[in-house]
Amino acid sequence: MSQEKHMESRIKYLFFPKSVAVIGASRSPGKIGHEILRNIVEYGFKGRVYPVNPRADKILELKCYKSILEVPDEVDLAVISIPAKFVPAVLEECGKKGVKAAAIISSGFKEVGNVELEERIVEIARKYGIRFIGPNIFGVYSAPSKLNATFGPTEVLAGKIAFITQSGALGIALMGWTIFAGIGLSAVVSLGNKADVDEADLLKYFVNDEHTKVVLIYMEGLNNGRRFMEAAMHCSLKKPIIVIKAGRSERGARAVASHTGSLAGSDVFYDVAFKQCGVLRALNVEEAFDWARAFTELPEPKGDNVVIITNGGGIGVMATDACSDYGLNLMELPRDLIEEFKKCMPPFGSPKNPVDLTGQAAYDEYSRALKVAFSDDRIHSIILLFCQTAVVDPPKLSEVISDIVREYKHCKPIVACYIGGEECQKAMRILEQNGIPAYPTPERAVSSLAAIYRWAKWKKKMLKKLKGK
Ligand code: ACO
Repeated sequence: MSQEKHMESRIKYLFFPKSVAVIGASRSPGKIGHEILRNIVEYGFKGRVYPVNPRADKILELKCYKSILEVPDEVDLAVISIPAKFVPAVLEECGKKGVKAAAIISSGFKEVGNVELEERIVEIARKYGIRFIGPNIFGVYSAPSKLNATFGPTEVLAGKIAFITQSGALGIALMGWTIFAGIGLSAVVSLGNKADVDEADLLKYFVNDEHTKVVLIYMEGLNNGRRFMEAAMHCSLKKPIIVIKAGRSERGARAVASHTGSLAGSDVFYDVAFKQCGVLRALNVEEAFDWARAFTELPEPKGDNVVIITNGGGIGVMATDACSDYGLNLMELPRDLIEEFKKCMPPFGSPKNPVDLTGQAAYDEYSRALKVAFSDDRIHSIILLFCQTAVVDPPKLSEVISDIVREYKHCKPIVACYIGGEECQKAMRILEQNGIPAYPTPERAVSSLAAIYRWAKWKKKMLKKLKGK
């Protein structure tokens, strides 16, 4: 194996270590080193855990070691949470111990002008072949190995979104928010100063990670744009990448410089580069996670024809406008399909697209219209809208819809939007649990479906171009 491949292969130890040492595992609850160890233990890490602290014998019922060199086992991953000035010596010991990867939590490096100290740890890591994330990070989370080596929330939900963040505090906050929103993550990586591992390294890893379906990145700036573009192009051909690139405005770019020391760079450059390599740029966190949820659940559409099924005219019009804004093709329904949809509604309904089942529509109407949409091959994607009425119990409607989507084996993309009170929130959760992304506004539902189309179109175009070469 070449040296480059060998170093690349070590990244997996960040996500699948058999053993983890927490260096600087503090005895005091509330200190970062203690909370990381507690998260690892309480989240149920499948491997072996070794706290390292010269002043402690036992922490959280685990035997504590004075130095990593005393650990009577191989150590795959070291999480280092001690003051910056002590990190080089400890990293040197990690190297001697044969540690393969590290997460350097400590702040106090390049971000505050300590460039030499940062260069020193890069040098040591290279000497021993250690790959590391950080410094200046909150850690790493990996769902399949049940590793929560962060000082973020404990009970992260497992899922298929790999979340990479250059911002620490925002990253931790978003980990918490995903739990509240019921969104599952396959991995979380805090990148911090990116002295070694960066976005490009992680894209090369996640493209082949069977637990990840979509990669979501919060980015402030890139150190090596060309490397990122190459990795992103390669990954986008297989898995979608969603990027929130902050520092879009001039003032925002200045804020980036003082936050992570990155160069936000010309926003136009990023826009063009992202488009070239298939990266989907989201404007904000809400949009990014909306799209990511759709990507994790939905199949690729087999064609452009989209049909809206609704019980409300107004929401149908809003969705129609959104389709036009986001470039989705609302299908002109042929005569025979109009006749089929007519059978699903009262005489005063509208069988054109949007298919308006009217305010009196309940389970049976939705059920029959959905079956028409799923069974006809000329329809490629479905937008299902529901305005809460007294004739429908929203959770029950979600059960009915979920049964049908299951019956048709999730064979085409379907996004839903429910508007109403608390019951609609519960009902949307039911849809989500059954693999149907649901949103509280038609625009968010349409924008998420449109993201899938944009990626599918980019991929098709790029594959054609590559074949032609
Ligand atoms: N090996 C092992 N353990 C050691 C060593 C060593 N060489 N040196 C010290 N320790 C022990 C200490 O005894 C202590 O344990 P104790 O509390 O039981 O006595 C523990 O390691 C921690 O050492 P402290 O000197 O107490 O350091 P402290 O915990 O106060 O701070 C930290 C360390 C958290 C790494 C700090 O220096 C730091 O960088 N904080 C910022 C971290 C951060 O914010 N990162 C970015 C996150 S992203 C965001 O913005 C949210």
